[in-house]
Amino acid sequence: MTTRRTDRTAAPVSTFTEALEAAAGPAALSPSSHNCQPWGLGRAETAAARRAAADLTGEDADEYLVLALDRGRELTALAAHAVEMEVSCGIYWRILLRGLAAQGWTPTAMRVLDDDAPSGAGAGADGRPGDGGGGGSPFGAGWPTAWVPLCVVALRPGAPSGERLDDLRETARARRTHRGPYRPQPVPSDLLRDLAGTGSAEAGEGPVHVRHLTEPGDLRAFAAFVARHAGRDFGHRAAWRETHSFLRRDLADASVRGDGFTPEQLFGPMSRPRRALMRCALAPATMNLLGKVGYHRVLAAGLADLVRRTPAVVTMGFAGRAPGRAELLRGGARLADYWWRATRHGLSLHPVSIVIQHEDLRARLERELSLPGRTFFVSRVGAAGAPAPRSHRRADAAGHVAF
Ligand SMILES: Cc1cc2nc3c(=O)[nH]c(=O)nc-3n(C[C@H](O)[C@H](O)[C@H](O)COP(=O)(O)O)c2cc1C
Repeated sequence: MTTRRTDRTAAPVSTFTEALEAAAGPAALSPSSHNCQPWGLGRAETAAARRAAADLTGEDADEYLVLALDRGRELTALAAHAVEMEVSCGIYWRILLRGLAAQGWTPTAMRVLDDDAPSGAGAGADGRPGDGGGGGSPFGAGWPTAWVPLCVVALRPGAPSGERLDDLRETARARRTHRGPYRPQPVPSDLLRDLAGTGSAEAGEGPVHVRHLTEPGDLRAFAAFVARHAGRDFGHRAAWRETHSFLRRDLADASVRGDGFTPEQLFGPMSRPRRALMRCALAPATMNLLGKVGYHRVLAAGLADLVRRTPAVVTMGFAGRAPGRAELLRGGARLADYWWRATRHGLSLHPVSIVIQHEDLRARLERELSLPGRTFFVSRVGAAGAPAPRSHRRADAAGHVAF
């Protein structure tokens, strides 16, 4: 097993190795819940791994890649995190595949490894069992045991998609979660219509419902919902302990760890004493005590106030009530396309997942705002005044595992 690091220079691309390195750079900058970066990327290189991938995709292709969920990095405190993790992996996968397509590496077949995918599929073709150290995966001993394979793609060289890799890269660098205030002016309705219509390649196979809230009444209703319910997470011990474990002391700490966020990223610029005070107030033990005097409601009111002054909110929902893995990955792809396109138009996003992370709250929000489908993403959208600070990525974020 080898791990490769990406060289982020824009060298002319000729081989698949170079194309993969070039595409993995922007993909590694993808957003993920708590910046946990739960994805893994495998490239089938051994004869057995390639045969397993060929059997799974039904395609005799030049190259095979496998998207994985890294169990060592996933969030687990809430049941809803399972959806967020696969949606986050779907975002990364979409940007990676767009980057490869821009360089002429086109998927010829894709297989989502749902629960019905045989764990030993294909690996028996050469008489080798598929679970030798691979944690039950079909990919043999080189496959990391903590990785759950989600999707295999077969690729061949062909005509480039027409998208410029430089544009994808530039947008990846410009795209940041912006948690500060947005300009109150309305977002032009034709721009929102364009964003709502941005479909991923697979849009026909189980559409993702995209809805914008822009009417003052809808925005007021959503802000009131946030004020009433967003304190739930701050007061949820396990969820808050997990969130807090991603809170980094300062920029240096975030840069060394390569994940999570700093207090400034969450709450805006602050002095050193205020940062220290904030860290203290947010510690799970303090939070628990402060919760008893209603501190979580103060935090929820602050978030609601931001929402109230936001010109638009976007919601995304799965068509089906019980989405399978294919739908979750498609949802991530749709979100990636939306977020990248919004960024190119100078818009920022600030997800407000707190209101959909508890089953009863999500159902209530869907009912109160008449949202179509099963909502999996809610975010403020608008033009931010100042740029948001850059979040960090782990050192091997743009690498892959050869198996
Ligand atoms: C599915 C999903 C849910 C998210 N939910 C929230 C959220 O509730 N609150 C928030 O401040 N950020 C949320 N984020 C944004 C992440 O925290 C952010 O992507 C990560 O910290 C990396 O920062 P960046 O987007 O600036 O690169 C979410 C991101 C994703 C992909």
